[in-house]
Amino acid sequence: MAKPGHGYPQVVPRAEDLMHARVVTVPHRWSVDRALVRARAAGAVMVAHAKAVAPTADLERAAAWGLGRLPWTDVASTGVPAVSRSADEITVRRLLRGGASVVLVRERGRVVGAIDASPRPHGSLTSRLERPHGAQGEARLWLLLTAGKLGEAQGHAVYAVGGFVRDLLLGRAADHLPDIDLVIEGDSIAFGRRLAEEMGGHLVVHRAFGTASLEGGATPDGTGVGRVDIAMARRERYARPGVLPEVSPAGIDEDLGRRDFSVNAMAVALSPSAWGRLHDPFGGADDVAARRLRVLHPLSLVEDPTRIWRGGRYAARLGLRPDAGFKRALALALAVGEYPALSGQRLRAEHALVMDESEPWRALALLLGWGAFRLWDPSYRVTVQGRARLASARLFLRWARDAHIAVDGAELALLALLFDQSRPVADRCVRRLTIAAGMAVRIDAAAARALARRLASLRPRRPSHVAEVLRPAGESLVLGAWLAGEGKARRHIEWFLREGRAERPILSGDEVVAAGVSRGPLVGQIMARLRDLRLDGRVRTIEQERAAVAEWVQGLATKGDLG
Ligand code: CTP
Repeated sequence: MAKPGHGYPQVVPRAEDLMHARVVTVPHRWSVDRALVRARAAGAVMVAHAKAVAPTADLERAAAWGLGRLPWTDVASTGVPAVSRSADEITVRRLLRGGASVVLVRERGRVVGAIDASPRPHGSLTSRLERPHGAQGEARLWLLLTAGKLGEAQGHAVYAVGGFVRDLLLGRAADHLPDIDLVIEGDSIAFGRRLAEEMGGHLVVHRAFGTASLEGGATPDGTGVGRVDIAMARRERYARPGVLPEVSPAGIDEDLGRRDFSVNAMAVALSPSAWGRLHDPFGGADDVAARRLRVLHPLSLVEDPTRIWRGGRYAARLGLRPDAGFKRALALALAVGEYPALSGQRLRAEHALVMDESEPWRALALLLGWGAFRLWDPSYRVTVQGRARLASARLFLRWARDAHIAVDGAELALLALLFDQSRPVADRCVRRLTIAAGMAVRIDAAAARALARRLASLRPRRPSHVAEVLRPAGESLVLGAWLAGEGKARRHIEWFLREGRAERPILSGDEVVAAGVSRGPLVGQIMARLRDLRLDGRVRTIEQERAAVAEWVQGLATKGDLG
């Protein structure tokens, strides 16, 4: 369309100029399989209905995962905005930037086309890359420049990818030296060897995955550059849900397309000829700006359910909010079921990573709300008590840290997460996660509740009575009783952990023997009585202990009980 008033005609694209017309409309109740038959027959790239739309490729993927009987709308974007054929490009772009993955084009109520986010223009991160802070920042910049040059000399493009790029956009990369993930469109192992020649360090090669990691490398002036993970740009194929993927070489955009979230699916080019160029085919930079957690396709979490835990971590750490697509992908992943190929060890590793975060409890609360723990056991229930128990565990850990008492936070969190589940569910989770015998998580919640009740009703005349109740319980059960209990029970436990359990007499067993007691169980009993006297504040000095022992020895001698 020519715009009047200009010296030369300007074309203002309309929605109809931007849309794919290869869209078929199918009833929303149809199954994935049935919609696919229609889409294939029509050669359609998308399937739509009113406000729902799905790329045919996503339906193919769902069918390949054995999900062909689901309603096709389960893998579709719903609530999709629509415009008329004549809407201008700016309106369409605004909707896409606002987070819509697709905009439908309608004419008299009928879907006639769809516009998806076209590849974004390549921005440049040069100034952010070159604004390093401190010696570590300088060292990292040297690493990136060197990697780009070495790759180009070998004839391959090199990129920094993932969290490094995300944090660069967030302005978070300056204050610490993060691990750097490099991707090379070529032989990553040869590249890793070359990089190790240049900067020293120890290279570990994982040939089966086409990856290598370099640790201990340094700049020519000896500043460490941190850990560098090197991978070949690749495509991945998952044979079954939850298994590790099979890989083959590919270009950077395809490599980005296999990743977990849009904010992690960006790369920055390091080769001198393209230095600083941002590759952002999925709109990750917009999602960083909008603090949006978005998966790249609806089956992302089915293909790799550990991404649910990753999502919880990013949401808590970076304040990202899951979008509607994430929520649908989550529902789909939870509906698929149990993921036998996903090992207990991987589930535990994800839990440990959550606990290493700066905001682990916020991440756990999110994961709980998302229903993530149904992957531990399908009957896992999210209850009000369960949420409160997590909050208690967090309080306890804070108290323990302040009191310099060593508590394993990951284990405590597991204990809190399983505490309010029924016994069979908790037992199945323990088996599913292959939790070792002896871990606190395996305690009997009923026994912990009973101990908490006993402590609450205890009217101790002396502190040693509290210690007497808690000493036989063992640390796990004591932790459990704290979680189960309230004010008074908790105060008793805190006193016991801080002071009670560590109390010992000053006198040694040998000195008790020297005072006239024969070696044997009686020595132990006397030591225990001394400890109780100390707990109750009735002896303090070594002289007072000696006097107490002398008195007992005399009494026993009179009765002829000295052993
Ligand atoms: N990744 C993925 N799916 C996974 C694990 C990782 O797609 N299950 C991709 C993501 O693109 C991620 C990259 O691999 O950005 C590197 O993973 P990782 O090192 O675990 O995360 P970082 O990106 O370094 O982010 P952070 O360490 O800050 O969590």
